[in-house]
Amino acid sequence: MENIVSQPHRVSKEARSNLKSQKPCLIWFTGLSGSGKSTVANAVENLLHEQGYHTYVLDGDNVRHRLNKDLGFSDNHRFENIRRIGEVSNLFVDAGLIVLSAFISPFTSDRRMVRDMFPEGEFIEVYVNTPLEVCEQRDPKGLYQRARAGEIKNFTAIDSGYDVPENPEIVINTAEMCLKECVQVVLDYLIEKELLQKSELSIQLMKSLLQV
Ligand code: ADX
Repeated sequence: MENIVSQPHRVSKEARSNLKSQKPCLIWFTGLSGSGKSTVANAVENLLHEQGYHTYVLDGDNVRHRLNKDLGFSDNHRFENIRRIGEVSNLFVDAGLIVLSAFISPFTSDRRMVRDMFPEGEFIEVYVNTPLEVCEQRDPKGLYQRARAGEIKNFTAIDSGYDVPENPEIVINTAEMCLKECVQVVLDYLIEKELLQKSELSIQLMKSLLQV
């Protein structure tokens, strides 16, 4: 980084967040392909958005079509994928947004790297602990079948590893819980940590929408 000097921002992260009346954070969903990361992330976003929160979802399948289209699925490329997403998330959080990201992010060290980019409490790891058998049975994109047939190499949980998160802030299992219950667990965490700053009424409304 020789010859590059950081430019100070005149408008701070706090000022940007205050304008949106919210506390920014990164809600990081990790889990196997087909575990339900994107579905839950999008449902949480939808609920928050309807109550006036400023949000953004970053999703593996979308980011890999654009920003990270030069990357594959070797361990090194997955590291670079997660590193860039961490940096993008950091910029979005700095802009004052509540960011929800859905990436397999199979390696503890890579997830740790992203966690370390954020102040304590701003990185919330959600382990989507849906068993492989269920993910494989769902196989929404037919990729497990192709991986089993040897047509796709380095497929997570088939011939590439997945490190189970040791201390995630939140654990959900989409095989045992319905979508509303999963969203509720995330919402309860955000409420408990006082990350949702709009009116008590809007919090009650969100809770009532999730009644099963
Ligand atoms: S990560 O491991 O680098 O975090 P990411 O979440 O971006 O992965 O992308 C995963 C998505 O890419 C999967 O949901 C699946 O649709 C697709 N995919 C294609 N090849 C693979 C592979 N070898 N392993 C895992 N996912 C793959």
